[in-house]
Amino acid sequence: MKKYLKVDPWSIIEEGFVAENHEISESIFSIGNGHMGQRANFEEHYTGQSLQGSYMAGVYYPDKTRVGWWKNGYPEYFAKVLNSTNWIGIDVKVNGETLDLATCTVTDFVRELNMKEGVLRRSFTAELPGGKKVKVASTRFVSMSMKEIGAIKYAVTPVGFDADITFSPYLDGDVKNKDSNYDEKFWDEVSKSNRADQAVLTIKTKKLDFYLTSTMTYAVEVAGTKADVQPELTEKEKFVGHSFQVQAKADQEAVLYKYVSNVTSRDHAVDELASVGAEVLTKAVAAGFDSLLDQQKEAWAAKWKDSDIVIEGDVEAQQGIRFNIFHMNQTYTGEDSRLNIGPKGFTGEKYGGSTYWDTEAYCLPFYLSTADESISRNLLVYRYKHLEKAIENAEKLGFTDGAALYPMVTMNGEECHNEWEITFEEIHRNGAIAYAIYNYTRYTGDYSYLGEYGLEVLAGISRFWAQRVHFSKHQNQYVMLGVTGPNEYENNVNNNWYTNRIAAWTMEYTLDVIAYLKENEGARLDALMAKLNLSDAETAKWQEIIENMYYPADEEKGVFLQQDGFLDKELIPVSELDEKHLPLNQNWSWDRILRSCYIKQADVLQGLYFLNDQYDLETKKRNFDFYEPLTVHESSLSPCVHSILACELGYKEKAYEMYLRTARLDLDNYNNDTEDGLHITSMAGTWMSVVEGFGGKKIEDGTLSLNPFIPGHWQSFSFKIVFRGARLNVQVTPDSINIKNETDVETDLIVSGKEVTVKGNETIQVSLAASAV
Ligand code: BGC
Repeated sequence: MKKYLKVDPWSIIEEGFVAENHEISESIFSIGNGHMGQRANFEEHYTGQSLQGSYMAGVYYPDKTRVGWWKNGYPEYFAKVLNSTNWIGIDVKVNGETLDLATCTVTDFVRELNMKEGVLRRSFTAELPGGKKVKVASTRFVSMSMKEIGAIKYAVTPVGFDADITFSPYLDGDVKNKDSNYDEKFWDEVSKSNRADQAVLTIKTKKLDFYLTSTMTYAVEVAGTKADVQPELTEKEKFVGHSFQVQAKADQEAVLYKYVSNVTSRDHAVDELASVGAEVLTKAVAAGFDSLLDQQKEAWAAKWKDSDIVIEGDVEAQQGIRFNIFHMNQTYTGEDSRLNIGPKGFTGEKYGGSTYWDTEAYCLPFYLSTADESISRNLLVYRYKHLEKAIENAEKLGFTDGAALYPMVTMNGEECHNEWEITFEEIHRNGAIAYAIYNYTRYTGDYSYLGEYGLEVLAGISRFWAQRVHFSKHQNQYVMLGVTGPNEYENNVNNNWYTNRIAAWTMEYTLDVIAYLKENEGARLDALMAKLNLSDAETAKWQEIIENMYYPADEEKGVFLQQDGFLDKELIPVSELDEKHLPLNQNWSWDRILRSCYIKQADVLQGLYFLNDQYDLETKKRNFDFYEPLTVHESSLSPCVHSILACELGYKEKAYEMYLRTARLDLDNYNNDTEDGLHITSMAGTWMSVVEGFGGKKIEDGTLSLNPFIPGHWQSFSFKIVFRGARLNVQVTPDSINIKNETDVETDLIVSGKEVTVKGNETIQVSLAASAV
């Protein structure tokens, strides 16, 4: 753990430059706008350790896979999010000396990510090797209102001497991924053009033909007056740059405004990239830096209006939760149903930027409650668009007749993962995709989704489950052998309770959807049954499986068993392990982990969280009491589920302890891996801990319900919920819950068990004194 950032409610602030923290800060101070993202790399040349990262949403590379032993069914490639053209670069020389923080003495260094405004700022004084000092201040953002635009203001002031300052802004496409299986470069140059007022670089991926055109222009001021400069033009392979000198008198500021547009062939025709790039750039320049900055502030104000959480009485918690919300909003903005959410967002290369079950299981609730429903709908449509690939994926593994197995890791619907125990066995991911449809429709009330897209996906997944189970004569029930549950610390187990349960639940839900469509959209159902070739005999078979599914359980303990053999394990609580063994994944051999009783992440409890209304409190309590002491939470996805259940069970301290494990995971670098990128899924989970855990938010029969409690030392906390056209600002204090309806949509809800109505633009107060948690 490394705590070096200042605590502040709205900003992340680093004071003092410590080179060994730089890569961690590059992740933490990343900026993004859903279309592109940028690690907090320095603009000027830097010879210290750095992970360069400029990412364009949806632009990826199918890097040829590397495995020990090939297994049939493995994918040929692992998709990689691509480090793309470095568009932020501005090299600086002062009287001929290069500004490089690795060779200068740096004082007054401050890096600040203003989350309210979506702006990254940095300032410092650098003493160059020759002894001269300059002050530098930079401001940069990727625009939320003009998604293809990035803008930088870079100011240099010589301290007490007259200086010749050389600025060299450039676009460099000659970049690499750190994560490349064969150390290849993934981009080829297509074209470049370079004139005094503008430089353009177009590069193309070596496979799949993604084109990226970056166009840059700039303006210069010295002591507040526009300076006309005559740049020297530089061109190299995949590189265009300008270089010019300005004279600044002692203590005069020389400012470079660099504007860049990044447009890709995902959004525009290849032959129009140059013209579109130039057009967008012209608009941005015409607006000017200050006005773009104002638009940025407005766009972020709108995001915060829908999604802010305010915690009074705990500034660290306040900063932590805003940081998480900020990155969720930077990562996915939801206009484009071809895009999804990588576990590291735009902040690093790990996990390849690909889509995991994380989206449906953890991220969806955030967007459902904080944004227009079209944004969540697009996350669902993404999987609809991949249905054919999911069917092909299942066919490769021997399934037939429209059975769909969604990939564990994907960019375009094809599986990218190639560890057999995950690729072939961690099939529970299919269940989360079905569950997301349920979660979306019950939250939004948008049942049109079911006929339009939902049923086709559900039928494909149900078909997969129906083929993946088989009838065991021994058990006289349906069983599912050879799977890996969410707990990846057990592989190839038989009858993982969670997987069996989510499989049967998917089939139940699919039948409910069919019944719903029969009643409400008969003609559409008939057309769908014909399209899918779905017969009554097939749905009857699903019903038979549902009724005869085997669920491992222990009667005496009154718990569901994670898998058939779980009770044969030596059950020693984590608290009795010597600390030196933890984390297990760094201290134990893999086989020792697999044989142990230790659970990486919520598994049975994941099921009790999803299917919450199907189990009584006593059942949840027995299972929680049994599994929580055995769980090591070595996946950052885990603590939030435990926290939410602990809230429901009234285990307030446990709930808060679990919440703390992820609340500042990256800010305090708990897992010592923040330099690789941020844990976006866990950020979504922390949001869930506050709103679904402490806030007790659920949907019961289409009605929003809240059952809050407030952690001991917080004075109050409040969160926003966008629900069916209304935006509610819910504030919880130790004594009461105050709900302000910020719209004119009247809303009925249940608060601590009581039915209440909040009229448009009204605030109601419900006393918490009498409410039980
Ligand atoms: C977790 C998976 C998760 C993946 C990406 C793994 O460590 O076990 O559940 O999908 O990380 O976040």
